[in-house]
Amino acid sequence: MCDDLVIMLRVVRLLKRRRRRDDVALVRVCADGELTDGEIRRIEGLPAVICCTGGRLHAVGLICPHAGVQLVKGRIVDDCIECPLHGARFALDGGSVRRGPAGHGLPAYDVVVRDGAVYVSRHPRGHGRSRHPWGACR
Ligand code: FES
Repeated sequence: MCDDLVIMLRVVRLLKRRRRRDDVALVRVCADGELTDGEIRRIEGLPAVICCTGGRLHAVGLICPHAGVQLVKGRIVDDCIECPLHGARFALDGGSVRRGPAGHGLPAYDVVVRDGAVYVSRHPRGHGRSRHPWGACR
């Protein structure tokens, strides 16, 4: 009986430690429901933007890899974020290039809604696919 209690306390302690570590890896963006549909907002403290489309939240890199323009001034078209300068499009769900002239994809971040707030991972979960060298987009 006493051994069970000790094991249970260790598990609780481990879970608390893991939750603390996860919180350090997240950046708070805003309150849940604060972003309006079609909105693109820069995330303070990260080179990323968060977008809301169709009730879903996505976070991708801030800078267009083609010529370095900030995508916060872009717009959302067909589940893509469109660069305001030359019109390259990047998939919101992973940062892949959907339309040139950009050759490289954007980093994509995890979005977590917890306790009434929206958080984004401090580090990207991956990088969107680039265009093929011969120019075809994925
Ligand atoms: S700067 Fe974004 S497509 Fe050219």
